[in-house]
Amino acid sequence: MAGIRKLPSVLVDRIAAGEVVERPASVVKELVENSIDAGATHVIVETQAGGMQSILIRDNGSGIPFDELPLAVERHATSKIESLDDLEHILSYGFRGEALAAISSVSYLEIRSTHAGADTGGLLRARGGTIEEHRIDAPTEGTGIHVQELFYTTPARRKFLKSERSEDTAIHKELLRLAFAAPELHLEYYRDGKPIFNLPSDNDLRSRIATVYGPDFAARLLYVEERRDALVLTGFIGDDRSYRSQADRQFTTVNRRPVEIRHLPFFVRKAYGELIPEGGKPIFFLNLEVDSTRLDVNVHPTKKEVRLTDEALLHGLIMAACQRALFPDTPLPFLRGKSDDESRYVTDEPGSQGSSPFLSADSSGGFPSSYQPGSPSQADRTAAFREQLREGASPAPLLYPVDELLSAGMSVREERAYPVRPPETTAKRSFVPIRHFGVIFGTYILAEGENEFYLIDQHTAHERINFEKKRRELEARRFQRQILLHPIALDYDAQEAEQILSQQERLLQAGFVLEELGPGQLVLREAPDFLEPGEEKELVEHAIERLSGGEDLVRVYDEYAAMKACKASVKKNDILSPEIISGILRQLGECEQPSRCPHGRPTVLRFTRAELDRLFLRTGFGKQIDASSE
Ligand SMILES: Nc1ncnc2c1ncn2[C@@H]1O[C@H](COP(=O)(O)OP(=O)(O)OP(=O)(O)O)[C@@H](O)[C@H]1O
Ligand SMILES: [Mg+2]
Repeated sequence: MAGIRKLPSVLVDRIAAGEVVERPASVVKELVENSIDAGATHVIVETQAGGMQSILIRDNGSGIPFDELPLAVERHATSKIESLDDLEHILSYGFRGEALAAISSVSYLEIRSTHAGADTGGLLRARGGTIEEHRIDAPTEGTGIHVQELFYTTPARRKFLKSERSEDTAIHKELLRLAFAAPELHLEYYRDGKPIFNLPSDNDLRSRIATVYGPDFAARLLYVEERRDALVLTGFIGDDRSYRSQADRQFTTVNRRPVEIRHLPFFVRKAYGELIPEGGKPIFFLNLEVDSTRLDVNVHPTKKEVRLTDEALLHGLIMAACQRALFPDTPLPFLRGKSDDESRYVTDEPGSQGSSPFLSADSSGGFPSSYQPGSPSQADRTAAFREQLREGASPAPLLYPVDELLSAGMSVREERAYPVRPPETTAKRSFVPIRHFGVIFGTYILAEGENEFYLIDQHTAHERINFEKKRRELEARRFQRQILLHPIALDYDAQEAEQILSQQERLLQAGFVLEELGPGQLVLREAPDFLEPGEEKELVEHAIERLSGGEDLVRVYDEYAAMKACKASVKKNDILSPEIISGILRQLGECEQPSRCPHGRPTVLRFTRAELDRLFLRTGFGKQIDASSE
């Protein structure tokens, strides 16, 4: 083997270039970022053959002074920062002075630029990092950068690239990331001469999302905003029923810079809990404002990913933001989309209408005469029902007066309704059942409210009740630590034990006292006193895992309460007496958040009277009854 030698600088540059420009998409990203840094409001991107043959980017930014063109392609030459101090407060995308040097060392590069105010433009051509031409040129608007034959100097890298198609996909994604980071930027993208998108300047993120994915998609997003310490998270997440099979609509920015945030997708996924199925990928467009001193920007040479110095804080912030948006305290409206409604209609064959008791084509709008809108007897009866219910009369009246149904040509089985005692104050409550009619399919309780009816999942509803009860108990007792009669040995290896011990302070706050007997030999000496005997090991292992993963204490207790709640709750197919059902409904009505179980599944579906009337084409009827009973 030959002796140790210093590498020639050309080779050094090429090796470094490989880190900055991995593939055509990274070239596109670096160049558009430069345009934005130069104050451009309009950028046009054109690529050929997956960007491997040609990438041309033109902007209307401030341009590069003629004399500085050679410097722009030199390594570590930048106009953006001057000192280490600046590095701590970076506002521009670029700061390393690496990108153009890297790109030029592995391609054929041409820059045409006119500095704002100058009456002549400049041209610079470089091949494989060596400047071949630098001259005055006709003035242009802003800067145009043309990169050709990417990686021609490094054939190995070129071979490593994927198909044109996958390079195109990567470029597309990179441009979208920038488009969402800078909604006000007018961005055009042409691929092999064909227009792919032309995004006009948008006012804000939601309108940019609507431009890209359509207004329906954008309308279903939930706005989030949450702050903790110096972190501010804002943006949009998919609603409780939106997810994708691929993580293709996940976009993050930090201080408006498109970067990935380590662990963020994982935290968001966790916040959705059971709302989306295993393998489902949530949708999010999030920006994190954070003092750059709390960021480790340089973790990745292409500035693709940042890491927060305090990840536990980030975790708490995301959970809080997402859960506040996902679990507002209202029962789910059952019918949302318009198309959904329409698909429920059964259209009768022409001519068969007259034979249906519900769709006679007479002048009363197709309804049996006894249901005539505004018929005083009906209105009075409705009012009387309500009166009775308010007084808690028991048993409650039938769902519909049988004689009326019979005279309308309908046969009914007599069904009993059971009253539900309303909670003390019904003001501001979103779930106020008045009576119920038992359980269907061994699972769903059917109940009626003032102007709506509900389907309640008996298991998740009971879980919510037990969860809030358990949580109140925990809060009230402000637990004490108790010394365990028999210390409990925990099973961790030396590495894990070390990690856990570094979190000892937090664990102590949570009521756990650990002791290390030898390397990797941890025992639990003291535990919170609310634990029931036999539970310590399960809970402590759970708590340790969650707390050392950065979870906050309150949440760990919530999880504990949820675990307990699930075990203590009635299950599907458990047969419940009407009194128990009434009790469940009343207590659910008193819950702080009645609409979800602690794992995030719905507890209540609500059908409003207006929705039903609409479905049965009774809109006018419903309105008049309401009006006459007021
Ligand atoms: N489109 C542009 N318009 C105006 N000036 C530009 C443009 N592109 C590059 N420049 C100038 O060239 C310099 C070098 O660009 P380059 O991308 O290599 O480095 P940088 O942006 O400073 O840092 P980084 O390597 O982190 O991107 C920039 O600092 C800027 O002054
Ligand atoms: Mg740059």
